[in-house]
Amino acid sequence: MKVFITGEIPEVGIKKLQDEGIEIVEWKEKRELTQPELIEYCKQCDALIAAGYNKMDAHFLKECSHLKVIALHSVGYDNVDIAEADRLKIPVGNTPGVLSGPTADIAFLLMLAVSRKAFYLHQKIINGDWKFFEPTANLGIQLNGKTVGIYGLGNIGFEMAKRCMGAYNMKVIYHNRYQNIAAEKELNAEYVSFDELLKRSDVISVHTNLTKETKGKFNKTTFGKMKPTSIFINTARGAIHNEEDLINALQNGIIWGAGLDVTNPEPMKKDNPLLTMPNAAVLPHIGSAAVETRDEMATIATENVIAALSGKHIPFPVNPEVYD
Ligand code: DGY
Repeated sequence: MKVFITGEIPEVGIKKLQDEGIEIVEWKEKRELTQPELIEYCKQCDALIAAGYNKMDAHFLKECSHLKVIALHSVGYDNVDIAEADRLKIPVGNTPGVLSGPTADIAFLLMLAVSRKAFYLHQKIINGDWKFFEPTANLGIQLNGKTVGIYGLGNIGFEMAKRCMGAYNMKVIYHNRYQNIAAEKELNAEYVSFDELLKRSDVISVHTNLTKETKGKFNKTTFGKMKPTSIFINTARGAIHNEEDLINALQNGIIWGAGLDVTNPEPMKKDNPLLTMPNAAVLPHIGSAAVETRDEMATIATENVIAALSGKHIPFPVNPEVYD
């Protein structure tokens, strides 16, 4: 049995596959595979570990319907056409749970960095612009006692809310498709309508999946409903906000600041105005980029592969319906 891996994954995953006698074909070039290349490699293999930005759309799935599993090295699965994978009975696995804390850390880091303009002021030193002390320059805003609005209170949103409460005694409000009763009890979180979330939050942190419903959800209209003193944080998927509208909102004082770990497109171009704005902080999609987390993700992804190649149900399926 052979597995194709689209990028370098931690050694712990490689070892697990080797221990099972599974042959590994690895993409080693320091660039993203094109779809024809991905198809060509997958055609020679029985399973795929997808560790990059590749889209697995209907065309790809049709060409690679022989795959016994697509094991994502991520929790997000918006790059796979799940309906088509269901139709072709291809199990798709992801890596849930293990990256909730680390991703929330990055959301929290961005919130704090934006509130005190940390990235911008760091750049100011590099540019030689730290000249003298100005009592009314470089001012940020405090977070203590403010309201954090979580858009998508699942595992990652929960971890972010916990950090905001613990560090700054922030009031937690949230909007979800469904109420999260457990989180309401533990965090004293208040369920609100989307409009109320926009109007009441001092910080909005996005933790939802990218779907047809959430694509472009934060745009000119929605930024317009937020407080002019508010901060927008997105560590979920770049396509959930409209980047041009966000830039306008920041430039025109519609909102106070923004912190992004995800952009649209990714990678972000180096001349993007967000990279030099005083009230923005951008990171290159590093939510899960901690040694321990990536090891756990590799372990889960390889467990999905090993199960599928031994004819078993995968332990972490996104589409368990394929087994019905
Ligand atoms: C995920 O796992 O979905 C994270 O965004 C990292 O890619």
